[in-house]
Amino acid sequence: MTNNKKARALLAVAICCFTLLVAGCGGGGGGNQLPPPPSFTLTAAPSSVLVSQGSTSVPVQLSVQGQNNFQGTVSVSVQGLPAGVAASPAFPLSINAGGSQAATLTVANTVARGNYSVTFAGTSSGLSSSAPLLLTASGAAIIGPAQDFKKQVIYQIVTDRFFDGDPSNNNPPQSPNMYDSTKTNWQFYWGGDLAGIQQQMAYLAGMGITAIWISPPVDNIDVVANLGGTAYAPYHGYWARDMQQIEEHFGDVNNTWTAFDHLVVAAHQNGIRIIVDFAANDTNPDDGGEFGNLSDNAGNLLYSYQNDPAPPNNLFHHNPTITNFNDPFQLQYYTLVDLADLNQENTTVDSYLKSALLQFMQKHAVDGFRLDAVKDVTWGWQYSLANTAFTAGPTFLYGEWDIGGTTDPTYPDSVQFSNRSGMPLLDFPLANAMRDVFVNNGDNGDFHEIDNTISQENSDFVSPNDRVTFFDSHDLPRLLSVDNNQNRVNEALALLLACRGIPVVLYGDEQYLHNDTNGGGDPYNRLWMSSFATNTTAYQLVDQMANLRQANPALAYGTSQQRWINSDVYILERQFFNDIVLIAVNKSETQPYSIAGLFTALAPGNYSDYLNGLMGGFSMQVNAGGGNNPVTTFNLPTHTVSVWQSSATATSPELGSLGPLVAQAGLTATVGGDGFGSSQGTVLVGATAATVNSWSNSSVTFVVPAVPPGNYNITVQANGGTSNALPFTVLTGNEIPVTFTVNTVTPPAGASVYLTGNILELGNNATSASAAVGPLLAVPNTGNASWFINASVPAGQQIQFTFFEVLSDGTIVPDPTPPYPYTVPTSGVGNISVTW
Ligand code: NOJ
Ligand code: CA
Repeated sequence: MTNNKKARALLAVAICCFTLLVAGCGGGGGGNQLPPPPSFTLTAAPSSVLVSQGSTSVPVQLSVQGQNNFQGTVSVSVQGLPAGVAASPAFPLSINAGGSQAATLTVANTVARGNYSVTFAGTSSGLSSSAPLLLTASGAAIIGPAQDFKKQVIYQIVTDRFFDGDPSNNNPPQSPNMYDSTKTNWQFYWGGDLAGIQQQMAYLAGMGITAIWISPPVDNIDVVANLGGTAYAPYHGYWARDMQQIEEHFGDVNNTWTAFDHLVVAAHQNGIRIIVDFAANDTNPDDGGEFGNLSDNAGNLLYSYQNDPAPPNNLFHHNPTITNFNDPFQLQYYTLVDLADLNQENTTVDSYLKSALLQFMQKHAVDGFRLDAVKDVTWGWQYSLANTAFTAGPTFLYGEWDIGGTTDPTYPDSVQFSNRSGMPLLDFPLANAMRDVFVNNGDNGDFHEIDNTISQENSDFVSPNDRVTFFDSHDLPRLLSVDNNQNRVNEALALLLACRGIPVVLYGDEQYLHNDTNGGGDPYNRLWMSSFATNTTAYQLVDQMANLRQANPALAYGTSQQRWINSDVYILERQFFNDIVLIAVNKSETQPYSIAGLFTALAPGNYSDYLNGLMGGFSMQVNAGGGNNPVTTFNLPTHTVSVWQSSATATSPELGSLGPLVAQAGLTATVGGDGFGSSQGTVLVGATAATVNSWSNSSVTFVVPAVPPGNYNITVQANGGTSNALPFTVLTGNEIPVTFTVNTVTPPAGASVYLTGNILELGNNATSASAAVGPLLAVPNTGNASWFINASVPAGQQIQFTFFEVLSDGTIVPDPTPPYPYTVPTSGVGNISVTW
C-alpha cells in the first residue's frame, strides 16, 4: 500500500466505527440504540414514457414506500409538465405510506415533439422524496400515406450499425459466419436490426425527426463475397438475393416480415414515416458470393447471371465496368463497380422490380422510397417506375443522382429527369457545397458556394423545395472526419434544417460520431451507434429545428433569399406569404462580424432567438421599412447560429406544395399549404374542378380530372379567396417503358438523334432537343447506324412517333419516313424498331 492508500484505509475504518456508534451498532447489540428516523421513497413507474400527440391517458403509477415505521401521508406535486400536458387526478395528490395512486397524462396535439424532464415531488412533515419521469412527446399517430414530405425531417439509418434489438438473428443458420460480435471487422454484420430501431423509438421521437430512411432491408446474399482477398458480408443491404423477402439478419431467421411490420406500426403510432432504400439497378457482386444471382421466396435460384438467356431475352446486361461517369450509355448499361446490372427493359425484370416495390407499399404500409443509383438505371424506365408507385397510391420517392455540382456534365440530365418524371432527387450539388463551406478541405470555404448552388438549382428545378438535402451520408466521410470541429456540425445541421428541401440527418451526427480511419470514408462512416444521449447540442438542435419545420410553413414551402453574406457569414431568409424564418450563421472560429445593412421581411419588432441561445443566438430588432425592413446593426459572434421567425394565421388559401408533380387522370394528388379553411372549397386543374377526397386547412387531396394531357396550373379556391398557382403535368395515361430503336441513320460528327411523337410524353411532336426525348444512344456494334432510347409512354395508346437529327450547328434534320404508328402494350414493356 502506498502511504496515501494507507491513510484512506484508516480513515474509512474510523468513519465506519463512528457511524456504528451513532446508528446504535445494529445487529443485535446493546439496549441504548436510537431508532432510525422514519423516511419514505416516492417512485414513478414507468420512469420514462413515449406518448404521441393527441394520445389520451398515459398511465403512471406513483407509490410511496415507507421506511422505519413511516406512517404519514405524502403530498405529491408535479413539476416540469410542458404546457399542453394535463395530469389527472389533479395535483397535488395524497398517497398514504405503503400505498400507490394511478395518474394519467394526456398530451395535446400542440405539445412540441421532444423530451421533457418531469419530476414528482413528495413531502410529508419535513421529509421529502422525488421521482423523475422522462416524458417523450412524439408526433400524432399517422393515419394514411402522405405525398408531401416537405415538413418532414428524415433520419438515415444503416440498420446493421444502429442497435441490436434481437440477438437471435445475429448469426442465422442460412447465412452463418458473417457476424462479428467484436465489431472490428468492418465488412461483417454487427447485429443491428429492425427490432433495434423500434426499441429506440423514444430516442428518435425525442429528436423530433418525422421519417426514417432505412438501408435496404431486403434479403441479401447468404455467403460472403471474397473480393480481392477480403471477405465482404452485405451488412449495408445493397446486395440483394431476393427483393421480396426481409433479410434474416434484420428480421428473423425465417425471413418473415414480422419485425419490419412491427417497426412500421410503432413508427406510425409515433408520427414517424418509414422510407425504404430500394436498389433497382443491380443485384449483387458478379465476381463473388452469389455471383449476381437472384433467388425466389423459397430460396430457389430464380435468375442466373452466369446462365442468362441470350439477347434480346437477357435479364442482365453483361458490359464492362463503368469508367466514364459522364457517359449516358455507360451509366445506364455498364456495370456499377461489380454489381450484376439488371436489364429493366426486359419484361420479367420490369415486373419483378415493380412488384417488389409495390409490395412494400401495399402490404407493408411503407411511406416512401429512396431509390438507389438512379443515374445508373435506365432513365426512361424509371419514369414508369415512379408512375407505377404513384398510381398505386400516395407515396414519396427520391432518387440518388450522384454528382459533384451544378457544372457536372450530367447535371442537366438530372434536372430534366427530375422535372419530367416528377421524382425528386437527393441534392448532391448542395451537399458538396455544404461540405466545401463547412469543412475546409482544400476549397475556399466561402458561403457564396452554397448560395450560388441554391440559386442555380432553384431556377432549374420545378420544385426545389422537394430536393432532398444532406451533407453527410453513408457514402461520404462524416464532416467530423474531415474536420474534427463539433461547432461546424452544429452549424451545418442548423442551416440544413432551415434550408429549402427535405433534410436528411445521418444517424450518429447528433452524437458527433466519427471514425477517421483512412479518412473516415466507407466503411468507417458506417460506425456503431455507441451513444443515445439526448443532451447533446446537435440532438436538441435537430429537435428544435424539426419542430420549427412543423410549426412555420416558411421552412417547408418558402422561397429562399440571401439577406447578408460573406465568406464566413450566411443570413438566409425563408418566406411563405406571412410566414418568415431568418437564420444567421457565422462559421468563423475567430472572427466576429458586425452585421450592418441587413433587411428582412419580418415585421418591425423585437425577435428572440428561436433556439433559446442553444448555439449562442440572441435577440434582434427589426425597424419599420415598408416591408423591406432594416435590422438594427448587431454583432454576430464566432461560431453562432441565431434563428428568428414569425408565422401568421393564413386568412386565404396559400399553396405551398403539390405531389405528385406529374400524374395521369384518376390519380390522387395532394396540395399542401395553409389557409384552405375548414369547409371544402375547390381545387382547379387549369379551369377544371377536381373531385376532392379530403379537406383540411393545410392539406387537400383530390382526383386528377380527365383533362387533356398537358401542363396546368393548380389553384385552390376556398376561404373567400383563390390561391397562388403551382405547376402540374397531366400525363396521357399510366406509363409503360418502351425501347424505341431507329436503324440506318448515321448522323454526322457532332450530331445527335432525338425521338418525338404526338403525345405529351414524347414532347408533343416538338423538334427541339429540350422538348423532345433524347439524345438517343448508339446501339453497340452497329457502326453508329442504329440508335435507341427507352421512354415511358401511355399503356394501350395508339401513338405516332418519329425522329430527328440535331446537327452541330443546330440544324434540324427530320426523319424522312412519315411518322411511325405504334400501339403501346397495355402492360409489361414494349419494343419497337424502325428504319429511318
Ligand atoms: C449507392 C449507395 O448509396 C451505395 O452505398 C451503394 O453501395 C451503391 N449505390 C450501390 O448500390
Ligand atoms: Ca440482431
